[in-house]
Amino acid sequence: MGESGERRTATATERRFLEPFRGEALDVPPIWLMRQAGRYLPEYRATRAEAGGFLKLCYTPALAAEVTLQPIRRYGFDAAILFSDILVVPDALGQGVRFVEGEGPRLDPIRSSADLAQLDPDKTAEKFGLVSETVARLRQDLPTETALIGFCGAPWTVATYMVQGQGSPDQAEARLWAYRDPDGFGQLIEMLVETSITYLDQQVKAGADCLQIFDTWAGSLPDDEFDRWVVAPTRAIREAIKDLHPDVPVIGFPRGAGATAVWYVSETGVDGIGCDTATPPFVMSEAFEDEDVVVQGNLDPLLLVAGGSRLDERVDEILDLMRGKRFIFNLGHGIVPQTPPEHVAQLVKRVRARS
Ligand code: CP3
Repeated sequence: MGESGERRTATATERRFLEPFRGEALDVPPIWLMRQAGRYLPEYRATRAEAGGFLKLCYTPALAAEVTLQPIRRYGFDAAILFSDILVVPDALGQGVRFVEGEGPRLDPIRSSADLAQLDPDKTAEKFGLVSETVARLRQDLPTETALIGFCGAPWTVATYMVQGQGSPDQAEARLWAYRDPDGFGQLIEMLVETSITYLDQQVKAGADCLQIFDTWAGSLPDDEFDRWVVAPTRAIREAIKDLHPDVPVIGFPRGAGATAVWYVSETGVDGIGCDTATPPFVMSEAFEDEDVVVQGNLDPLLLVAGGSRLDERVDEILDLMRGKRFIFNLGHGIVPQTPPEHVAQLVKRVRARS
């Protein structure tokens, strides 16, 4: 093993975030929050203005690394998450992605095998390279004890944006394409599986020590379609990463999966399961007992906006139910922009006050 490899192994053992994945149930669980970098922080808004646009921020390694570090400086989370976006993958494949201020993402929709021909997996190297450069900078600049999470969107969720051309309440266009022409839609999913494996592999090589797969819209599919478009692609990614990097844990976040979350865990082989806001804490604590999996979740992001004693009480409730389990404290979905930064400080203090 080379010199840098030895150094990584030595420091990685000091990262408490990774301990639940090695079988340890910690009295004070590791904590990080989805969307911990973002508009609720004034320093994020300043760096974003400096970058001039959201995707520019994602593709400028010095600035993307800076916004990744901002919440670590403030709160000392146990893990940093690479600052990027799940829509970097379609953007790198050649489908133009724009972020319209106040409206969210816009893409030129892909709805047929003919449209698919416009995408080119060989084009991704330049943009993925910029993301890897951000990861490499972060591994240099982060405190040794802070883990670094890389990520991608799950093929299903990324496809919903690619096919709809924007966010949607019901993901109707992707669901309809999948019913009407499963082979054509399957080609898109297959391309996303292969591209996501390349992308995650590069993030790990650059220094990520854990990966999360965001499947925000997993809950919009009935069980048979869930199997085909959520479970199977996630298992393919999980298996490929396991072959390439056996020690790097993969967390799945199949938001809205409900009763199928346990099935998702056993069939995909993920090492961690992100539970959404609607999952009752007693389900988090009991449903996965027969699975070899770390549970992560699931405070309501709006309770973090409200703050006060309700916040403390719910945090205590979650911590009580997850005591003795391999658990990582997180939200059930991402931080929202109107979150007061001091409420995040209150949350971290409350979690760390436990013993
Ligand atoms: O968690 C982090 O701090 C890391 C960075 C991160 C972002 N997006 C930054 C971001 C991560 C992991 C994501 C994932 C992501 N992106 C998901 C999956 C998780 C989820 O929230 O459901 C999805 C569905 C997207 C797609 C996306 N990106 C949408 C729909 C939007 C617009 C909505 C919004 O909040 O504005 C984005 C933009 C985006 N991604 C922002 C940030 C901080 C806000 C952009 C800005 O600064 O204007």
